[in-house]
Amino acid sequence: MLSTKHDKAIGKANDFIKSKKEEVANQKYRNHFHFMAPVGWINDPNGLICINGQYHMFYQHYPYAPHWSSMHWGHAVSHDLVHWDNLPVALAPSEPYDAYEKGGCFSGCAVYEKGVISLIYTAASKIKEEIVQSQCLATSTDGINFKKYENNPIISTAPNSSTADFRDPKIWWHNNLWYMVVGTCHNSLGKVVLFKSLDLKSWSYCGVLSESSEQFGFMWECPDFFELGDSGVLVVSPMGTADNTTLYFTGKMDYSLPKFEWDILGKPDYGCDFYAPQTLTDGNDRRIMIGWMRPQMPQEDFEKLTSKLDWFGTMSLPRVVNICEDGKLCFEPIEELKFLRKDHFQMGPVNVCEEELEIKAGDGLSYEILADFDVSGCDATEFGFVLRESEKEQTLLKIDLASSKIILDREKADAFHQKNVYCDFECEDNNLTLNIFVDTSMIEVFANNGKSVFSANIFPSESSRKISLYAKEGKVKLNKLETWGVSSIWEKN
Ligand code: FRU
Repeated sequence: MLSTKHDKAIGKANDFIKSKKEEVANQKYRNHFHFMAPVGWINDPNGLICINGQYHMFYQHYPYAPHWSSMHWGHAVSHDLVHWDNLPVALAPSEPYDAYEKGGCFSGCAVYEKGVISLIYTAASKIKEEIVQSQCLATSTDGINFKKYENNPIISTAPNSSTADFRDPKIWWHNNLWYMVVGTCHNSLGKVVLFKSLDLKSWSYCGVLSESSEQFGFMWECPDFFELGDSGVLVVSPMGTADNTTLYFTGKMDYSLPKFEWDILGKPDYGCDFYAPQTLTDGNDRRIMIGWMRPQMPQEDFEKLTSKLDWFGTMSLPRVVNICEDGKLCFEPIEELKFLRKDHFQMGPVNVCEEELEIKAGDGLSYEILADFDVSGCDATEFGFVLRESEKEQTLLKIDLASSKIILDREKADAFHQKNVYCDFECEDNNLTLNIFVDTSMIEVFANNGKSVFSANIFPSESSRKISLYAKEGKVKLNKLETWGVSSIWEKN
């Protein structure tokens, strides 16, 4: 059989990845328990889906360099969302509608029906001097090789909005119909539009599901819509907001209008690096979210950081999304991560005072901490952890009770300029629990059972491994501290 342009583009990408894989596995900053591509650049998670107990993660991918360029879809599978096996690249730019250096196969989703996996993605191209983003389809019967639909695009223009910004379809099944949300913008305001279909190929426009007011940005990327209990949840990644974080809205969906009226607004993650998340459900009825850890630093820092690398980009840990009594969402790391725990260490109760208290957690590079503070008698102005420390570097996790903020101070974390990150928290019965995951170039913090969460990129030297607890101008009681080293998820690959 003659190979198509798509087969050739995929073959070229796979050959390149194969030739570089081993070298990249030993390069700097590779994480031990966070998902990365074997080679090249990654951004958004795409097409997250669980089929007969097997999880698939596709992702925005440029295999040939550690920076963004014409987008491919990488592909990996897992039985536990923790250990991943890499599969061949699933989509590569090859057709007039998606072959463009500053475009390609942009973000989208996957659905499974009768043995066929369908990928619905945004094709981004320049056609007659105009940037066009359209929605396209590719299918596979073996879960590995994907064929683009001969009548692509399946949706070619944006309804009453900008076709140059019309991307990131996410699809779900409701009342015998497929529904699709797509992000777009009109008059510099982000919005999410809704379509419906019976067969995934022919779509009709239903209307605007939700739109931004000025404070929520000029373009809404990567919309995701799902139901939790009786509530609808819309997640968007707005462009052009002050703190650049992803937002969620919970409220009521009325399919008859159709309209989504939201009443609660929150952030899945307070870190400005966490972006473009997508969710899936699995056989255990869990709603699980994974986000891309977007690097946000001056371009010259980024070039310095990646100059000797043939890879760049990491996904967040998968988090289970639940709805609390007050309608807000909470996000907890998936249980399966506990299987990676090793080298247990325990301490407490103990008062943490002005003198730094050194602690042990794995090899000081990849570890998990679970800390439970009783803040009722706390008279310290600030307390917290000094992580990834050496003479020159330290990543500070500070708790400021007066302002109820947890602050990640990255000023001395590494040689690059990255913003400090903070999140608000509320103590419960005078308790603050922190579940902290630190990896070679990542930190994720889940406070009070996932009610306040943030994650951030850090790039300290390998030798910065000291860990300690501190309090300033007073003391705080630590009820209990547990730490574990975390096994590498890549060892068998
Ligand atoms: C978000 C995003 C998406 C787009 C993709 C391109 O990070 O800009 O809107 O589909 O990345 O790689």
